[in-house]
Amino acid sequence: MRRKLAAGNWKMNGTTASLSEIEKLLETHPDPACDMLICPPATLISQMAWRCRTKALKIGAQDCHWNASGAHTGDISASMLADAGAMHVILGHSERRTDHGETDAMVAAKTGAAWAAGLVAVVCVGETERQRDLGATLAVVGAQIDSSLPDGATAENTVVAYEPVWAIGTGRTPTLAEIAEVHDFIRATLVGRFGEAAYGIRLLYGGSVKPSNAAEIFKTSNVDGALVGGASLKAADFGAIVDALAAA
Ligand code: 13P
Repeated sequence: MRRKLAAGNWKMNGTTASLSEIEKLLETHPDPACDMLICPPATLISQMAWRCRTKALKIGAQDCHWNASGAHTGDISASMLADAGAMHVILGHSERRTDHGETDAMVAAKTGAAWAAGLVAVVCVGETERQRDLGATLAVVGAQIDSSLPDGATAENTVVAYEPVWAIGTGRTPTLAEIAEVHDFIRATLVGRFGEAAYGIRLLYGGSVKPSNAAEIFKTSNVDGALVGGASLKAADFGAIVDALAAA
């Protein structure tokens, strides 16, 4: 059985004032029947991790460099994130692939660095609207999985997030059948490459998940949770998504 995971990606949102949302979430969800993860901006990781050190909520990061240290102004290494209290790191988000030109090879290198630092890599894949319109979704997602994950992915060190680019921040979501098709395909691809153990790797759906659509998405085949953007910023909304996942 895979334990479900509700993950929040705060993106470039949040200051110390937002720590109150974490306090609220800890208060309303002290012991949920699923895992909870929030990935705030790097500036908040250590303060959040300190508050959550004995709690059910895990704190993660949104990116890391592929090197352990060195002359990389403005970058942060995986071991630094671990030192700050992060336990997970999102890698290969479409916003990083687009805004920073991250390639699958870079994502694979970052994933290896995350593992070496003891972090769980949350590796993101997903097609653009044009690729979907062209009928290329499975080919695109399959190629991203093949090239963004190094050898050695396990249920313990890796989570995969399917985030169709056109569904991120748009209020639009694929149909449940479309989500199931991609998640079943990702599962088969992972099992083909990493063997039976890949049945333990958690697959998250991301893209306009909110309290009103979470329950039906969580009933979908091979969906083990969600990677939530906008709706993770408020404890009430994220808490409602956690509730829907715990009940699924
Ligand atoms: P939204 O939930 O705001 O669509 O963002 C999804 C996302 O990109 C999570 O990583």
